Amino acid sequence: MTIENDVIKRISNARSIVFFTGAGISAESGIPTFRGKEGIWNKLRPEELANFDAFMRNPALVWEWYKHRMEIVHSAKPNAGHLAIAEMQNIFKEVTVITQNVDNLHRRAGSKTIYELHGNIERNYCVKCKKFYNEDFDLGGGAPKCSCGGLIRPDVVWFGEFLPEDQFAAGEKASRSCDLFFIVGTSGVVYPAASMITIAKNNGAYLIEINIEPTEVSSLVNLSITGMSGEILPNLVKAIKDFRNMKD
Ligand code: OAD
Repeated sequence: MTIENDVIKRISNARSIVFFTGAGISAESGIPTFRGKEGIWNKLRPEELANFDAFMRNPALVWEWYKHRMEIVHSAKPNAGHLAIAEMQNIFKEVTVITQNVDNLHRRAGSKTIYELHGNIERNYCVKCKKFYNEDFDLGGGAPKCSCGGLIRPDVVWFGEFLPEDQFAAGEKASRSCDLFFIVGTSGVVYPAASMITIAKNNGAYLIEINIEPTEVSSLVNLSITGMSGEILPNLVKAIKDFRNMKD
């Protein structure tokens, strides 16, 4: 990867950085993305699996799918891309991660300020009394039930649902005030999450996209870096450290 020196200089001099991430950053951890050739939504129908009415109609089916996804997430490990973003905290004062991913891998990699726009698959709650559960319930057969008798559901955002207000508001604030905004491994087509990109742009941030291919947002950014985030991001960390004469 060769990134022009003036870009490295611009990045190195940034004050406040946001990483807006999507499924692509976790692809190298073995978690499938949603769109593209091998994407989940190419094989399964979102309206049958990621939708509240579908859940109420057939909670066991939806749970079967989520148990499968939970198993994938549990056995996955943060990859070099997640770790490089966490490492940025040792270089810059303000590093914020805004993610559409529900896999918890940024946290497991050591990132501290994370806003999860689409929830977290390792958290669950009762649809009736709203009590929260981690995974401290019987995941055996069918759909798990709360002590109040209500159905327990994963704490993820389904189609047609609102995003968690506090996470969205905090993400919006960080996007508005940052001077450097990375868009990593997302197709950028799902709203309102993707509005973070235009918020950052309209407030003057320098936008850098890291993706294996061009996306809907490529025409908006200042710089597109083509490649896998697990390779690009560690190289970027090294280049910034070299520029700042920091030790690895
Ligand atoms: P997508 O599946 O739409 O996009 C993944 C992006 O990652 C694509 O642009 C790929 O080119 C890119 N990509 C794949 N592997 C990569 C790699 N190793 N390095 C860099 N880029 C890579 O996933 P999202 O944009 O996250 O929402 O999808 C947004 C939302 O749509 C998800 O949060 C989910 C889904 O429906 C909900 O479930 C509410």
